[in-house]
Amino acid sequence: MSIPPSSSSSSSSSSASKTMKPASTRPKLPLPLPLVATIVCVFAFVALLYTESLSFLSSNSIFRIKSCSRKDSITKTSERSSKDKADDFLIDDRFDFDPEECSVGNGKWVYNRSIKPLYTDRSCPYLDLQVSCVKNGRPNSNHTHWEWQPEDCTLPRFDPEIALKKLRGKRVLFVGDSLQRGQWQSFVCMVESIIPDDKKSMKRGRIISVFTAKEYNTTIEFYWAPFLVESNSDVHIIGDPKKRILKVDSVARHAKHWIGVDIIVFNTYVWWMSGLKIKSLWGSFANGEDGYEELDAPVAYRIGLKTWANWVDSTVNPNRTRVFFTTMSPTHQRSIDWGNKEGIKCFNETRPVAKKGHWGTGSDRRMMKAVSDIVERMKVPVAVINITQISEYRVDAHSSVYTETGGKLLTDEQKADPLHHADCIHWCLPGVPDTWNQIFFALL
Ligand SMILES: *[C@@H]1O[C@H](CO)[C@@H](O)[C@H](O)[C@H]1NC(C)=O
Ligand SMILES: *[C@@H]1O[C@H](CO)[C@@H](O)[C@H](O)[C@H]1NC(C)=O
Ligand SMILES: *[C@@H]1O[C@H](CO)[C@@H](O)[C@H](O)[C@H]1NC(C)=O
Ligand SMILES: *[C@@H]1O[C@H](CO)[C@@H](O)[C@H](O)[C@H]1NC(C)=O
Ligand SMILES: *[C@@H]1O[C@H](CO)[C@@H](O)[C@H](O)[C@H]1NC(C)=O
Ligand SMILES: *[C@@H]1O[C@H](CO)[C@@H](O)[C@H](O)[C@H]1NC(C)=O
Repeated sequence: MSIPPSSSSSSSSSSASKTMKPASTRPKLPLPLPLVATIVCVFAFVALLYTESLSFLSSNSIFRIKSCSRKDSITKTSERSSKDKADDFLIDDRFDFDPEECSVGNGKWVYNRSIKPLYTDRSCPYLDLQVSCVKNGRPNSNHTHWEWQPEDCTLPRFDPEIALKKLRGKRVLFVGDSLQRGQWQSFVCMVESIIPDDKKSMKRGRIISVFTAKEYNTTIEFYWAPFLVESNSDVHIIGDPKKRILKVDSVARHAKHWIGVDIIVFNTYVWWMSGLKIKSLWGSFANGEDGYEELDAPVAYRIGLKTWANWVDSTVNPNRTRVFFTTMSPTHQRSIDWGNKEGIKCFNETRPVAKKGHWGTGSDRRMMKAVSDIVERMKVPVAVINITQISEYRVDAHSSVYTETGGKLLTDEQKADPLHHADCIHWCLPGVPDTWNQIFFALL
């Protein structure tokens, strides 16, 4: 697939200045405000919560980015014709979803009060505190009543029974970061509702978690590998991104756990976006970890992804295993991206962005290009679950202040300070990742 013409938009990594502070010290960040006439300078604080809700898994870190973009921050988008509106009243002639024929990212979110998610954050016992927004005090569940409607086709509803039948006797594995963990939890929650208590089990671990649907002989698993490739921050997370070193040419230590899986879904993106250069190591250096090279994130990302692709091509038997890749999940740290000058990140947003083709600075087109370039040239077919455009609209659906830090719900004081504490990276569940799985289900 090609890159839309609006790719002239700036990306967050073109930022002029950045600093980073480990969260534990919680310093007051200095806020220099040199607002030169035409320079739009926005401070985006990234608070990444790599937290497991279960206390025995507590590994937590937050990092923050202060970024200042010189570019006009309103993304230029190709406005399409106003034909869409008129079409609402015409007969639905959309064909059934077929990935070859239908571009799933081309469509709109439609509000429908009578849509009920297959689970809630109270009914599903497997959700992390991080994503249980309504239970954590989000005042409404409006974000669960929007349905994604592609323009040219209909996306089938997620049917847990059909999904489980398709997965009978199979091992399904989601591999990646906390966003991928969200997609895994969404998938598990959508199917677990139809399985009686004694016919299912869940085992959570620091790296590997396994949900078992006994009668179907199916396991739906999650493997934690936020960069896919190896790093010094995989098991014991290093809070300060400056201290993280990636082995961009090594994946074997993780990948030995991925062998023999029937369906495998990968992602990696947000951990590369600390705003810093990536300390990258390859080959074997006589001076060990000091032999790293600092590469721009898109360069390091391309090398890392290529390492992953080489592993897939050399190891995966496409007759036995199906490979999927979930594209980058957008972050919504700059409300000016969607034209809300008064906003504080995604805090208090109540509706999806209506502007067709909206694309903010939280989604780096160079990273997307790396994914499509590499996947296209692979020997083993990889089905792309392209979630980026559809999720870009959903500024209303992040955890925001209805989340946790260090295993504890945000306090009232923290909630009152969304600039520092709103999580505009992760998504409420039920919510947007359910639609990612609807796409995954349609591709299965
Ligand atoms: C809203 O959702 C309900 C339940 O899924 C469905 O029956 C109905 O057709 C939908 N309404 C519209 C306008 O799409
Ligand atoms: C969200 O929910 C509130 C309260 O239920 C309601 O007043 C509001 O209209 C809803 N917003 C949308 C976009 O439907
Ligand atoms: C589950 O898998 C095992 C081993 O592959 C097999 O022996 C068993 O018959 C399967 N059970 C069902 C219910 O499919
Ligand atoms: C996959 O199946 C095809 C057709 O049955 C066969 O020709 C091919 O060798 C198989 N590939 C592998 C890697 O087993
Ligand atoms: C956020 O929304 C709440 C409820 O709608 C409102 O009371 C509050 O003033 C809003 N806060 C800001 C900073 O806009
Ligand atoms: C995902 O879709 C976007 C458009 O929505 C496109 O630009 C991008 O190339 C697609 N990514 C991949 C990996 O196919």
